[in-house]
This record gives sequence, C-alpha cells and structure tokens, in this order.
Amino acid sequence: MHNMAFHNSRSTLGVLFTTLVLFGVLVAVCIPSCTAQPGFSTSDYENIQVALNLEYLEAEYFLWAAYGYGLDKLAPRLTEGGPEPIGVQKANLNVLANDIIAQFGLQEIGHLTILQKDLGSSYFPRVQLNLSAANWANFIDEAVGEKLHPPFNPYANTLNFLISAYAIPYVGLTGYVGTIPLLQRVGAKTLVAGLLGVEAGQDAIIRAALYEYKDDLVPPYKFTVAQFTDFISNLQNSLSHAFVGEGLEVPKSQGADGLVTGNILSADIYSLSYARTAEQVLATVYFTGDAATPGGFFPKGASGTIAENYLNP
Ligand SMILES: *[C@@H]1O[C@H](CO)[C@@H](O)[C@H](O)[C@H]1NC(C)=O
Repeated sequence: MHNMAFHNSRSTLGVLFTTLVLFGVLVAVCIPSCTAQPGFSTSDYENIQVALNLEYLEAEYFLWAAYGYGLDKLAPRLTEGGPEPIGVQKANLNVLANDIIAQFGLQEIGHLTILQKDLGSSYFPRVQLNLSAANWANFIDEAVGEKLHPPFNPYANTLNFLISAYAIPYVGLTGYVGTIPLLQRVGAKTLVAGLLGVEAGQDAIIRAALYEYKDDLVPPYKFTVAQFTDFISNLQNSLSHAFVGEGLEVPKSQGADGLVTGNILSADIYSLSYARTAEQVLATVYFTGDAATPGGFFPKGASGTIAENYLNP
C-alpha cells in the first residue's frame, strides 16, 4: 500500500513535470505565431496574402471574359469595396471555351471566399487591376519583341483569349509551389495545396487546348501558337530573372526525360513544377521585373505585407 501510494505520488509529479515541459516547449514554439488565429503563423498570413492578389486578378479576368461582368455582380461581398478593374470585358469565346472559362471564374470565387474566411483581418479589398486590351497588347508586344499590327486583343476570339490566359494561372501555380515550403502551420499548407491543385489544373487545361493548335498561325500574325507561348514564357522568365517556365515546344533536352520536344506541361528536368518566390511573382505581374516598381496588371501595386514592403521599403 505504502509503495503504491508512493508510486502514485511520483507518477502525479511526473505527469505534472511532463506537462510543464510540454507547455514550455509550446510557448517557445508558439511565440509569437500562435497568438494569431489557429492554423496560420504570422508569416503564413503574409505569404498567403500574395496569393490573394493573383486570385483577384484571375477572378475578374475569367468572370468578365465568360459572363461580361465580375465580382461586383456575382460576389460583391468579396471585393470589400476595392476599385473596379480597368478595361476588363466580355471575350468573344466559342461555346466550349465560354463554358470552361466561366467555371474557372467561379472557381476563383471559391478561392476568394475561403481566403476571406481564413485570412480574417489579413484579407484586403480588391486591388486595382488593369486588364485592358491595350495593356495586354503592350505585354504581348514586349513578349514577341515587336509591335503587332493590329494590336493583340485577348477579347477578340477564343484563341487569343487562351493565349492570354496561358500567362496567368501559371504564375499562380509557380508562386504556390514556391510558397508551400515556406508555410509553417498545417492549416496554411492545406489551404495553399488546395489552391495549387486547381491552378495547376487550369493551367493544364489552357495548355492542352492550345497544344491542339500549336503549329497553327495565330491570325493575322506570322507566329504560331507554340511561338506565342514560347515568347510569353521567355518574357515571364526574364521578368522573374529565372528560368521558371517553358512554352508548348522545347528543345529535346528540356522535354520530359530529355526525349521529346512536345511540352504539354511546363516542368523541370525531373518533371517537377517550377517555383517562383513572392518577389518573382510580383516582378512578373507588374511587367517591370521589379517588385518595387508597380505596373502591368497592378498599376498601383499589389496589396498585403510582403508586396507593400517591396513597394515602400
Ligand atoms: C491601363 O493600361 C493601359 C496600357 O498600359 C494604359 O494605356 C491605361 O492608361 C491604363 N489605364 C489606367 C486607368 O491606368
């Protein structure tokens, strides 16, 4: 009996001691990050804010292209009063493309909805976007390396729209591949893994749709679909100061297992997705090659702590 009691009191002390040690470890690991909402550390919130900028861009571009209106009509709660996008419009899409792009746009509403829920006070209002045909024409001229006549208009037809869309979810995809290893908490990783899956799916659908026509000229220009994708990836690589994207045709050495020139997906020599840092994502979508110099789709720059730290160092 005596031994038993002694044993029990030792055991109670042991449990108390273990609890205190565990508590100490938790406090050490958690300060300051666990003071925020469970599931995200402070830096997780900041990293995910970069994604929010891209989700706004995609939501407005795809919704407008398919429906002729965007978040203000379909999900005004998500804009939180941010300015209307500049120059975005209905695209002249065939029935199949309109159906697909509408789904992409609605998927972005889902993404924005979960971001608004999970980011809480770190969610920010819709950023100023410039999605005008003129802005796109500048981007494509820069990619092609000459001034196209007539100016490239992504809203003119299905092929042009798909070529423009080739430039968008792909940046998100590479950004998310770059973000996930930086995330600390399981909730944050789960969210961005889910975003990554759908961005990669959108990119794959766009690439597959273009791949079928890769050797066709894009009327009225003298370049093929594959050349346009190559031009766009090259420009985005140079804006990112890194080799992080490939067009629909590549030298054999860059194809899957170094054996093919067809390049249905953009990936490295191990067929792993390329990654972009937040800085590279911002430099790319600004068209300036510099996260400190806004422009392109984001004339006033992107929002969130990381983007704003580049803009106002
Ligand atoms: C949008 O971009 C185009 C092309 O760069 C530019 O001409 C236009 O002024 C921009 N619109 C606004 C309101 O900033």
